[in-house]
Amino acid sequence: MPEWLKTAVFYEIYPQSFCDSNADGMGDIPGITGKLDYINNLGCNALWINPCYDSPFKDAGYDVRDYKKVAPRYGCNEDLFNLFDEAHKRKMHVILDLVPGHTSEEHEWFTESKKIKPNDAYKNRYIWTNSWFFWGIEGLKFVAGEAERDGCYIINFFKCQPALNYGFLERSEKWQLPPEHPDCTATVEALKDIMRFWLKGDKGRGCDGFRVDMADSLVKFDDKQKSATSAVWQNVRSMLNSEFPEAMIVSEWGSPEKAIKAGFHADFLLDHKDSGYRSLVRNYIDGGNGDSYFRKDGNGNIKRFLNQYLPWYEEVKENGYISIITGNHDTPRISHHLDTRECALAFALFFTFPGIPFLYYGDEIGMRYLQHLPTKEGGYSRTGSRTPMQWNSGANAGFSAAPSRQLYLPVDTEKNTLNVETQENDPSSLLNTVKVLLKLRNSEEDLQSKPNLEILHADSEDRSFFYKRGRCVIGINPGKADTRFPIAANGEFNLLYSIGGCGYENGVFRLGSQSFGVWRL
Ligand code: NOJ
Repeated sequence: MPEWLKTAVFYEIYPQSFCDSNADGMGDIPGITGKLDYINNLGCNALWINPCYDSPFKDAGYDVRDYKKVAPRYGCNEDLFNLFDEAHKRKMHVILDLVPGHTSEEHEWFTESKKIKPNDAYKNRYIWTNSWFFWGIEGLKFVAGEAERDGCYIINFFKCQPALNYGFLERSEKWQLPPEHPDCTATVEALKDIMRFWLKGDKGRGCDGFRVDMADSLVKFDDKQKSATSAVWQNVRSMLNSEFPEAMIVSEWGSPEKAIKAGFHADFLLDHKDSGYRSLVRNYIDGGNGDSYFRKDGNGNIKRFLNQYLPWYEEVKENGYISIITGNHDTPRISHHLDTRECALAFALFFTFPGIPFLYYGDEIGMRYLQHLPTKEGGYSRTGSRTPMQWNSGANAGFSAAPSRQLYLPVDTEKNTLNVETQENDPSSLLNTVKVLLKLRNSEEDLQSKPNLEILHADSEDRSFFYKRGRCVIGINPGKADTRFPIAANGEFNLLYSIGGCGYENGVFRLGSQSFGVWRL
């Protein structure tokens, strides 16, 4: 396990929208490098950058045309190497986005593979049926009529994303290859080759790992446990262990008990329908106030989250981490369902929980979800969470010096004060709350990644939640009513930080309306 994960706090950057250094309206790599000190001062010591490779951008870069080349609109490979170096000088780490399940239909492998007589090396790099005349199989999406080759191919997500071939564990058709077929293992080797290209090693390219897109999607018709897809990742992990032991991989899987066994160092809690994560931050019940845990006027309770989280946590705690996100490029921003105080309380929980937290750019200032923006680069409803970072109250909120009409996406101008500069000057801002919370996490070993969680009080009738981590006791009350919780302990509890009215007297913790406290024994 890479040592640096013990203290890692990630900041996710959607490169299109973070900082434009050359006034063309598009965020870029030098723009990110120029903001490393901001990210570091915020308390984040690691970055995840969404795909920044050459791409036709039909899915914002998740349709990769060349895995080994930075998209010219973001700069060049040297710019990325420089970002790695600058980050390392500040003791920060940078992970890239690895898209193993599919490429762009413009990737050279695919243009070869779709020919009448494909080159042997790429004939089975994608999944082809043996005739154009094929009605499909439930659970897979086939495209017909697009290639000279007599066959249909499978896509993983959008039409522009043909699925790479890692084989089928359960097979009923001749064209379905077993995962151990040399053409399928060649796909795995190609994936490892891409990873080696970027990772920090003898060649000094400097990448510290990968966030892995749709990590569970590799072998089609796998079994319930995803044993064949897991075998691919175990293979990748042993390569990392022997060649790049300090590199990390975190999966977009949403099932930590499977992902960690498969070899990932961490797995995200995803904002899936019915997920425990969603019960914290979304209007869980459609309409009305909903019952998300953090809504002051909701009636949610923490049990819904814990019922999912705790069994996973117990199962993976010896071997890997669970990553809680404030949001990401696929979800409505957290501020869409929670107001500023509610967001602060949610962040308080996320940043004092075990595992490796991920903060999505702009969530630290409560950037809004612009629900009705027209789709951009395959974003659809996700587009509203991908708008330019709001740095100051100047032109284009300081994101770019280009004319506004040239921006990648419009800047949210409705609230001119919702920006970094203004919030830096306001001690009670969300930005400053995030800074204090992260400072606390970074200075208290007990509050970092390690699995030392003990639940002290979690009840479906009462909204307050108390937990202990080493010598720290943490209490949170998102509701309106004051709550009290007795605890038998020898010695004094010192309040390290609080939001709202909290106290500890004569063996009783008190949490006022919408409050949070961290005490240390
Ligand atoms: C998940 C990514 O997060 C999302 O943005 C993308 O569209 C799909 N995977 C397809 O790669």
